[in-house]
Amino acid sequence: MDIVLGLQWGDEGKGKFIDLISENYDITARFNGGSNAGHSIERNGRKITLKMIPSGIFMKEVQNIIGTGTVLDPVSFKKEILNLQAFDHTVQPEKNIIISKKAHLVMPTHKLLDIFMEENPEYTTIGTTKNGIAQAYSNKILRQNLRVGDIGSPDFQSRAQHILERDYKMLEDGGMIVLPALEEITKEFFEAVEFLKKFTCTETEIYLNKALSEGKKVLAEGSQAAMLDIDHGTYPYVTSSSTTASGASSGLGVSPKKIGEIYGIAKAYCTRVGNGAFPTELLDEFGDDLRMKGNEFGSNTGRPRRIGWLDLPALKYAVMINGVTQLVLTKADVLSGLKSVAVCTHYELEGEMIPVAGTLPENARPVLKWMEGWNADFSNMKNAAELPREVIGFLSFLEAELEIPVGYLSTGPGREQILKLTNK
Ligand code: GDP
Ligand code: IMO
Ligand code: MG
Repeated sequence: MDIVLGLQWGDEGKGKFIDLISENYDITARFNGGSNAGHSIERNGRKITLKMIPSGIFMKEVQNIIGTGTVLDPVSFKKEILNLQAFDHTVQPEKNIIISKKAHLVMPTHKLLDIFMEENPEYTTIGTTKNGIAQAYSNKILRQNLRVGDIGSPDFQSRAQHILERDYKMLEDGGMIVLPALEEITKEFFEAVEFLKKFTCTETEIYLNKALSEGKKVLAEGSQAAMLDIDHGTYPYVTSSSTTASGASSGLGVSPKKIGEIYGIAKAYCTRVGNGAFPTELLDEFGDDLRMKGNEFGSNTGRPRRIGWLDLPALKYAVMINGVTQLVLTKADVLSGLKSVAVCTHYELEGEMIPVAGTLPENARPVLKWMEGWNADFSNMKNAAELPREVIGFLSFLEAELEIPVGYLSTGPGREQILKLTNK
């Protein structure tokens, strides 16, 4: 099993890369997160953003698994499937998607609780996507949640109704001002659950292990990214799941012994949506220009993404905790036209240099290395030999610092806009 994961704060271009390489696999499998993800795929000049549906969905021969480590919101999933079918009527989601019985359900009240906590000064504001992700995962850990496999049981209706009523009362008592009617969210939820019944739900860990033992190729799809990992990210400004390679193993029920290639995706600069540390952030007009040039607006929420220079200490940390075997670099094209580009190589704290930092220390100052910029039209580049000397220099610098090869350079949002750089 190979894995694709994000190495920064999300939105590195995972969707595009997975859509491309999934043609080499029999199965793609999402292992974490839920509808907080936004994985954009451009096909024939049209773009779609997938939230819960694995990014191999456009390959007719590829089976797409929604794994055990995920949290599935039936209401959002139904909308996403209908949107997908409107985008491409040839896809067959009911045939090509298999859902883990052990994936947890996101209830409508989880989403409302997420909004409530984000807007209530009694709680830390994370800047979440308001998809109820933390609330679903926390109820999983509390062992109070419903799972996809519960949908078929005779008492599902009464258990779900109980949870909805209980949590709704909590919101009312908490003084949530804008609250949709309980009847309305209940109706929508049960209709979406009926829709979900059209899909095959099974023990996906058994399905995946059987497939692997038959020699089939599996690609695990990460959502979010290393610096948003619940354990290793910039806590508390993180998501609530394991976004790393070990999360792929536990989230899918596949032994770490079965893991092969680990593709780590990173932008040539950094972005972040939501709150939390971002030492290389560019808060000036230059950052605003880069945001426009790179179209850095959240695929899921539409929020403007925060922009900063590439953070090498954070990237080294992400490569280390994931055991990344090759880097996929995206968006170097966005930096084209700049005289020089910067990379943060260290943090400085009270005169001391900190070479690798998982936890970004408060008050640490990023130390920037300036490198020659490049100027090229990447849009139709077909061959690595066409790359400007400065880009080659940038890639070599990253390879030397990270001690892994750059396997691919993405040159634009389009499916075909990618250069393979090694023989891997
Ligand atoms: P994901 O969450 O990691 O799948 O990334 P998103 O889809 O949220 O955000 C990445 C954005 O960058 C999308 O709009 C992609 O279409 C776009 N994109 C991906 N790779 C490249 C690239 O190399 N260059 C440019 N300019 N855009 C890219
Ligand atoms: P993809 O898969 C970027 C961020 C949110 C917030 C924090 C917690 O498209 O890369 P949550 O809703 O998960 O409780 O929010 O995590 N976040 C993402 N940022 N890309 C994502 O997914 C994200 N998913 C969550 O902005 O800061
Ligand atoms: Mg995204």
